[in-house]
Amino acid sequence: MTHNTLRNQNDFSILSKEWIQNPYPFYDQLREQQPIYWLSSITHKGWFITGYEEAINILKDQRFRVRKPLPRNTHKFKDLKYIQNEMMLYKNPPDHTRLRSMFQETFAQQAILQLKPLIEKTVDDLLNSVKSIGTMDVIQDFAFPLPSMIIAEILGIPKEDRHKVRSWTNQLLGVIDLTRTNHTLYKGNEIAQQVKEYFRDLLLKRKQMPKEDVISQLAQNTSLTEDEIMSSLILLLIAGHETTVNLIANSILTLLTHQEQMHLLKQNPSFIHSAIEECLRFESPTQITARYAAENIMVGNALFKRGEQIYIVLGAANRDPKKFSEPNQFDITRSPNPHLAFGAGTHYCLGSQLARLEAQIAVNSFIQRFDQITQLDPSPRWRKLAGFRALKSLPVSFTAK
Ligand code: HEM
Repeated sequence: MTHNTLRNQNDFSILSKEWIQNPYPFYDQLREQQPIYWLSSITHKGWFITGYEEAINILKDQRFRVRKPLPRNTHKFKDLKYIQNEMMLYKNPPDHTRLRSMFQETFAQQAILQLKPLIEKTVDDLLNSVKSIGTMDVIQDFAFPLPSMIIAEILGIPKEDRHKVRSWTNQLLGVIDLTRTNHTLYKGNEIAQQVKEYFRDLLLKRKQMPKEDVISQLAQNTSLTEDEIMSSLILLLIAGHETTVNLIANSILTLLTHQEQMHLLKQNPSFIHSAIEECLRFESPTQITARYAAENIMVGNALFKRGEQIYIVLGAANRDPKKFSEPNQFDITRSPNPHLAFGAGTHYCLGSQLARLEAQIAVNSFIQRFDQITQLDPSPRWRKLAGFRALKSLPVSFTAK
């Protein structure tokens, strides 16, 4: 098959306001034309994978590799490159295997379950602090502080530094998104420099005086280089903060816009497990992940030429009618629900159990403790990101029980 190009490319910019506001009709259009689509626009060129089978096959195929986000041979963005290039997310086996195995135990289901009391207490404290006010911004007051407190606790970031670390990770998310510009990269580089200095200092302190936390374990570890340790910490912070915020907020928004499903969950709190899986499918926090072809590869009729960029649109695969019946229907009892919100294959999300547990506790407590929850801003405002589905804010009013 030759590359298919769209007739009117400008109508299809992945940066368009319409796409950011509601990408799903664009995904459907792409998938209907070709689930493996060659998109060539002014800003982006590459394969867009919108079919479920196609996406999972590529994610599991080792010939499709992750690429370092910034090439080594540019002198610009030195600090950004320094932290990004060593992240496991951008490494292939065998380095990927060695790095990932260092964190497997910390994020395994059994270890995560032990965090349940801490998550429940943090959720309670956050909801108690807004309950007498009767209004809140779900992002600022709840969805953002929760995961950031939990991941900071796991890693061992001192309490007094947490606000600083939060603002860094928030800004670094834009750096790995498709919509990034030179300005984002310059800003990201400045932040990277501060983050690097901060962690170098902290690692040194923990080397001299270890505590019971991940940073202290890493400080004693001799099988990782200092670059790898720093990059891993930053990756865990970004991943631990940002995507979980979006899972919690997107879940609450989706329930608010599907009142009958909200009611069903309120009446049956034990549905929370399948409800969160459905939220992951329906408004996937990570919408797009990328690979490149390490060699010429034929998949079906499509020839991926060596070096070509591939965007795997998880948010589109998760609404493929060939895999999910009534894919645009939000159904908290959907089962089975083999969504790809956490990816698949060797890079399958390391923090999926943590994200699930935080979201289950947060969403259930929120809807059980509050009544008459009402969205104050009728049209949700999404951040200008294509790879992530992230709200700017979600103001609501409620009555506390
Ligand atoms: C990888 C999604 C939460 C840590 C991934 C990938 C996805 C994803 C799609 C695969 C990327 C790829 O294949 O290119 C999500 C979502 C989350 C979430 C939707 C929340 C709702 C977390 C949390 C952590 C985490 C809480 C850690 C604290 C990681 C790491 C990787 C990863 C380290 C890279 C794994 C590797 O390269 O082997 N995540 N994630 N994630 N995630 Fe998550």
